[in-house]
Amino acid sequence: MAANINNIRQLDLDGKRVLVRVDFNVPFNDDGITISDDSRIRAALPTLEYLRERNCRIIVCSHRGRPKGKVDQWLRMWAITSRLARLLKMIVIQAGDSVGAGVVESVEGLESGGVLVLENLRFHPGEEENAPEFARQLASLADVYINDAFGAAHRAHASTEGVARLLPSAAGFLMERELRILGDAIDAPKRPFAAVLGGAKVSDKIGALQNLVGKADLVLIGGGMAATFIKAQGHAVGDSPVEDDRMEFAKRLVDASIGQGDGARMLIPTDVVVAEEFAEDACVQTVGVSAIPDGYRVMDIGPDTARRYAEALGACKTVVWNGPMGVFEWDAFSQGTAAIANALAELEYAATITGGGSTAEAVAALGLADRMTHISSGGGAALEFMEGRELPGVAALALSR
Ligand code: 3PG
Repeated sequence: MAANINNIRQLDLDGKRVLVRVDFNVPFNDDGITISDDSRIRAALPTLEYLRERNCRIIVCSHRGRPKGKVDQWLRMWAITSRLARLLKMIVIQAGDSVGAGVVESVEGLESGGVLVLENLRFHPGEEENAPEFARQLASLADVYINDAFGAAHRAHASTEGVARLLPSAAGFLMERELRILGDAIDAPKRPFAAVLGGAKVSDKIGALQNLVGKADLVLIGGGMAATFIKAQGHAVGDSPVEDDRMEFAKRLVDASIGQGDGARMLIPTDVVVAEEFAEDACVQTVGVSAIPDGYRVMDIGPDTARRYAEALGACKTVVWNGPMGVFEWDAFSQGTAAIANALAELEYAATITGGGSTAEAVAALGLADRMTHISSGGGAALEFMEGRELPGVAALALSR
């Protein structure tokens, strides 16, 4: 963790009112009312339990979804609050709003060790605007602020940035763990250090590619974005979506990595699984990258590429992975992602770190979550960290009094 940030153990918390920013923006099933993955709630438990042991009065706050400053009945916190209550094995109170007289009253009524969950912060425009008045209202509820929302640390919002300037502040255990593990992996990795980058678009990963190419020994490319790299090597890619404006960038990266002593060696696919249309039951072929048929599109890395990647990863001591290798949700295109996940699971003496979002989902679906050193609770935040960018929520903790 950044040396100049307080951690929770450094604050005098006994009996205090503590505002805890968590990232409980959890995925829901299609019914809109049941949670499909509660890992973000579970990840905050160590901090909440620590505060309970210190008889704090705990005010938990989070955003959920993107309601754009308006109340959205589908994005209320109650289902999350009831899951939290079940996990903490206690009654947890749900506030009707995140600020205002009713909330002040609920805080006053909190017992030592009691937990109150505020309503979705983003129902107020002041949250995303980082409005000083909204930050002030949040701060007025508590004596101390703990930020455990790594997943929202890339947002400069009132509850992640503004409020940290107004109260004695510290990072919670989850925030601390994320910053330490991701920070060590990227800035002081045991070598060889590999970065595996996948996902749909090169443009989403440009920052991470630029940063990691300068730090890793090996960069492995997969996912839909591999098509742009394959095309940049002069091959036809059929109907694969390609970002032509990123081809020069892709070509430069690969060219720079060939035959040079410095910088990462880049691996791009030599074979791919292609489909005639973007559909689960599409007509599928496995072909070399120089033989992608007209009318087909890249859906996964091929078996030869998967074997080569797994072999390369076998020698690594640190691996960070962000973005699936293919459309893993559909069986026919899940093998590449499974091969990478299995290769990382086999690495007994390496730090294996996966970014959140769809990479975490894929690892969990394969039942391999326990075999990774760390699965980040952050999607966009983990990616921005990999880009080497300063996260506003973390920077604000460093400035805090
Ligand atoms: C996430 O799910 O990545 C975080 O909760 C941030 O959500 P946001 O992208 O809506 O700010």
